[in-house]
Amino acid sequence: MADTPRLAGYIARDAGQHPAALHPAYKTSVKRSPQAALLSFPSGPGEETGPVFGHDMLGPLDHDLIHNFAADGRSAIGPRIVVQGRVIDQSGRPVPGALLEVWQANAGGRYRHKKEGYLAPLDPDFGGCGRVITDAEGRYEFRTVQPGPYPWPNGVNDWRPAHIHFSVFGAGFAQRLITQMYFEGDPLIWRCPIVGAIADPEAVRRLIAPLDMDRSLPMDARAYSFDIVLRGRRQTLFENRMEGL
Ligand SMILES: [Fe+2]
Repeated sequence: MADTPRLAGYIARDAGQHPAALHPAYKTSVKRSPQAALLSFPSGPGEETGPVFGHDMLGPLDHDLIHNFAADGRSAIGPRIVVQGRVIDQSGRPVPGALLEVWQANAGGRYRHKKEGYLAPLDPDFGGCGRVITDAEGRYEFRTVQPGPYPWPNGVNDWRPAHIHFSVFGAGFAQRLITQMYFEGDPLIWRCPIVGAIADPEAVRRLIAPLDMDRSLPMDARAYSFDIVLRGRRQTLFENRMEGL
């Protein structure tokens, strides 16, 4: 439309930093990966200003997975941890107001999901999901129990390293990224076929959260630090929104 203000658009993703869509050692990638070359379209107002859900609906325990599914007076079973960090762009600027949604297996490595088939028990006091919004400095923090590793039907004996899934929602509908956080020292990380789909070992290391004893809570919880770095933004046309999209 002629009257639509021209927006700067998103910077194209650097495919070299991401795993190939087809990685046969990760079996389901064979069926999930595209069979033909992708078509690329410029983003427009629909993607850049579209609605974002969930930013105004956080409950008081959404960032506390130890208690957000537990009965009164009870708590989830497992090693108690704090996960904290910042969401920043590639220039180091904080990204405030980003909605982080997290989900994970319980301490035994089992998900609360109808298709879950692992024999480890469910914890009646653990739901396995939570969410938090970054503050003005781009910081976030949530509490949970450290998830256990779990086997999955890929090869004969493949195990996922302990991990927490992250979804990051920005200010526009197209701004959603999904990744996984791993834990320092886990020997399963480098044996995992999904991790193996990432060609660059340095890119893998950026997904491994180090133990951070300075942020631990004595006699309560250890802490892990995980910063999420987004692409930079073009904002020259956003004179009324200096924070960008
Ligand atoms: Fe998982």
